[in-house]
Amino acid sequence: MDFPNYVQHRQVRRWVEEMVALCKPDAVYWCDGSQEEYDAMCERLVEKGTFLRLNPELRPNSFLCRSDPTDVARMEDRTFICSLSRNQTGPTNNWVDPREMHRTLDEVFDGCMRGRTMYVVPFSMGPLGSHISYCGIELTDSEYVVVNMKLMTRMGKAVFDVLGEDGQYVPCIHSVGMPLDPGQQDVTWPCNKAQKYIVHFPEERSIWSYGSGYGGNALLGKKCFALRIASNIAHDEGWLAEHMAIVGVEDPQGEKTYIAAAFPSACGKTNFAMLVPPAVFEGWKVTTVGDDIAWIKPGRDGKVYAINPEAGFFGVAPGTNVKTNPNAMATISHNTIFTNVGLTPEGDVWWEGMTSTPPPELIDWQGQHWTPDSGRKAAHPNARFTVAASQCPTIDPEWENPNGVPIRAFIFGGRRSTVAPLVFQAFNWVYGVYYAATMGSEMTAAAAGKIGEVRRDPFAMLPFAGYHMASYFNHWLQFGRYIPEPPRIFLVNWFRKDSDGNFLWPGFGENMRVLQWIVGRARTRAAGRETALGRVPVYGDLEWAGLDGFTQEDFDTVMSIDREEWKNEILSHEELFIKLYDRLPKEFLSVRQLLLSSLWSEPEWLDRQE
Ligand code: OXD
Ligand code: MN
Repeated sequence: MDFPNYVQHRQVRRWVEEMVALCKPDAVYWCDGSQEEYDAMCERLVEKGTFLRLNPELRPNSFLCRSDPTDVARMEDRTFICSLSRNQTGPTNNWVDPREMHRTLDEVFDGCMRGRTMYVVPFSMGPLGSHISYCGIELTDSEYVVVNMKLMTRMGKAVFDVLGEDGQYVPCIHSVGMPLDPGQQDVTWPCNKAQKYIVHFPEERSIWSYGSGYGGNALLGKKCFALRIASNIAHDEGWLAEHMAIVGVEDPQGEKTYIAAAFPSACGKTNFAMLVPPAVFEGWKVTTVGDDIAWIKPGRDGKVYAINPEAGFFGVAPGTNVKTNPNAMATISHNTIFTNVGLTPEGDVWWEGMTSTPPPELIDWQGQHWTPDSGRKAAHPNARFTVAASQCPTIDPEWENPNGVPIRAFIFGGRRSTVAPLVFQAFNWVYGVYYAATMGSEMTAAAAGKIGEVRRDPFAMLPFAGYHMASYFNHWLQFGRYIPEPPRIFLVNWFRKDSDGNFLWPGFGENMRVLQWIVGRARTRAAGRETALGRVPVYGDLEWAGLDGFTQEDFDTVMSIDREEWKNEILSHEELFIKLYDRLPKEFLSVRQLLLSSLWSEPEWLDRQE
């Protein structure tokens, strides 16, 4: 086999040779990561009918892609963590014995790239050469994956300079699982409708993905590497790989506070990462380091530092508009790949919520003629845009700092229409870890499941922790113990509703009011009132100017902690705890008892007063 002369890594050569022998592609192409290569690959996708070039006047250098209607989201039921022992994987992940899984994969990958090209995609998660970064190589038979990886990671031959002859990397192999017979016409979105596998081998630190071409199933640097495999590496090495956005908040004096925030999939993390403060916050700036994943390491100075391992955004399009996220709209004004959105007659894109009045007609995400009363969605609810982070108007000047940015606070927030108050601060690290571990959220379209149903989503990591969830909790507890001044932990809920189903909190840019309070607390300025759950702001602690019509009563409602609701909430933690009991941190049982007693111990004189 011929190798480019810059590939001197012996083990990489051997691995690629082995994979070529297994997958039997017609050709092998080594991606150099150049702009010319990206442009040529996009052109090729246009010729194949996979991409449609959007109107260059309206959306320069941008493309629309429609996936197969059966291949539109991450598939958690086809995602496997194949540790040597089942116990290591834990009860919240699918496990198959790694030897058995290897036998299965050897069968399904045998000849899976016939009639196609295997692309070798070298990439770095995090700035090239940063001590926090890690390299990977994805072998794929999908051009769609190649161009998306170019936007989402630092992709290209410079990775081999970092790897040298024997540097560490994560081998990632991906196939759409649809070999072509000689002369067989390809389809615009090849995938395997019958069989899908998204498989992680934590001890080998390798990833095998088969049958899907979509998102986190196929762009293996993202969820598979940067979360599932990286969480294993982080556990072994004493750092954190998290499903978190990273934002900088700068006050009018120029003091910057970085915060990392975990929200489950499609709960507005990208909006939060690009938040526009209301006009009254003159002089305040929110900047974006990352919108989805954070790698966080302790520094020698006792602080913790985070990088965004990604280089792009793979954001949910529906609901994004100039009001909810003007920065995202500016980011995707050019050089963007749109997947599963609608196409307007002018050759631009549209999705539900992009404008208040839908276009009178368009072509929907399945290529069908669509009108507003057709009773179908123009865009799939999990339709996405892929775009380089550097195009974001609020990108933080430090976002590529190889040493990361110092994190002062963690925010956790699920989507809860009831129970959870707008914001509170955990009393301490252990309480914070407890709350993050028991976080609940209503299901969204990013993963298959029943929309609206509440599921526990610890740390927003349920689908992404690559080992036993309770060991992961222990890892967090230990991590905090070894940081002299760990970041403060806050819980938020932007999604609380009244009994008529109306949102109680305006959300979006107005979240700045809460963020400002958090920043103040993170810098340890005293404020707040103690409740059974933690510290909360009183009405006067938040800035209210410019939010007309939001009264103290509204604030009290959105902040209320209802005992009966919390009783059920805390009791329902039991289900998760029993599931994870064998490794559950002892601290959790005590925190739970403390919470119950602080919510329910009533003095006897209360009866007498009645
Ligand atoms: C994502 C997800 O794609 O969390 O970011 O599903
Ligand atoms: Mn995500």
